[in-house]
Amino acid sequence: TDLQPHNTLAISARAAFFARIQTLDELREALSFAKEKGLPILPLGGGSNIVLTGDFPGLAIQVSLRGLSLTSNGRGGYIEAAAGEGWHQLVMTAVERGIGGLENLALIPGKVGAAPIQNIGAYGVELCDCFVGLQAMEISSGELHTFSASDCEFAYRDSVFKGRLRDQYIITQVSLRLSDNWQPRVSYPALQQLIVSSQWDINDLTPEQVASAIIDIRNSKLPLPEKIPNAGSFFKNPVVAADIYHNLKSTHPDLVAYASGDGWKLAAGWLIDRAGWRGKRYEAVGVHHQQALVLVNPGRGRGDEVTRLAEAIASDVQDKFGVTLEPEPRYYP
Ligand code: EPU
Repeated sequence: TDLQPHNTLAISARAAFFARIQTLDELREALSFAKEKGLPILPLGGGSNIVLTGDFPGLAIQVSLRGLSLTSNGRGGYIEAAAGEGWHQLVMTAVERGIGGLENLALIPGKVGAAPIQNIGAYGVELCDCFVGLQAMEISSGELHTFSASDCEFAYRDSVFKGRLRDQYIITQVSLRLSDNWQPRVSYPALQQLIVSSQWDINDLTPEQVASAIIDIRNSKLPLPEKIPNAGSFFKNPVVAADIYHNLKSTHPDLVAYASGDGWKLAAGWLIDRAGWRGKRYEAVGVHHQQALVLVNPGRGRGDEVTRLAEAIASDVQDKFGVTLEPEPRYYP
């Protein structure tokens, strides 16, 4: 099976085996088939955070578990969603009922089951801010296990599922709680500006207004994968020690950075832009015009064209600024 329709970078690569599963029993069966044959597993949600560097010699599993419930007391709410639901649809289900908490995460591509893996985040909010727990099937045994928020070890674009428990579980269901006393989170500079320039009463914002502002900002900067194949931010924003930040800031006064723990989180998009990469095109692949952190694949290039461009960018940023960039999507195989 060609995985091109199953990854948002639109990379063509074959999976030796492919299964679309709609129930937990089907998932368990698929896992035991793979175990019998000694096949590695590639779980697919929306395929919006993976780079296929070549053919996959195992079983790709498209997780199509469905089901979404939102219970609300009129203000806050509790959501249970199966892994195969669309993330944006989940956000809009709450927003349309006037329940706030998720609106800053509108329009993030991908499925619910992938959201905890990298603790998706945008515009000052992260999944972990409203996360309650999840259910996941252990790949080796087919058993269902539950994980609390602390079990997941969430951090910036990180969780236990990218580290210690990598490749050991397939997430099947996620639970979220939306607080009764919602406060809009609009301190992110671009969001603040848009809200101020709107006609809205800044002291009486609704989740719907914030969601619509987020959607406008994202649409103005981030390419829709259906139009221009991409995997969102290609690198994490690097966190560096204070002395490194102060050195860089003295030579580059317009450097964009945010205090983060004892260090500083640098805007990788700024570094890549300043190194001269924004808008560059190399045959099939390139760097997005409006956001240098996003690599694009308009010519449907292969995975190694994408990874070669990423390596060239990272090594140039290393040379120019002495900062190491770490890719954000996961490479397969
Ligand atoms: N910038 C430039 N040139 C560029 C790109 C950015 O100068 O080409 C500057 C911007 O002007 C801005 C700063 O860098 O001052 C930050 O840019 P932006 O607000 O676009 O956000 P980001 O730090 O590049 C992160 C997330 C995004 C998320 C936005 C909004 C990561 C790796 N990326 O991007 O997440 O939507 O913040 O919160 O943390 C993703 O993970 O796939 C993703 C899109």
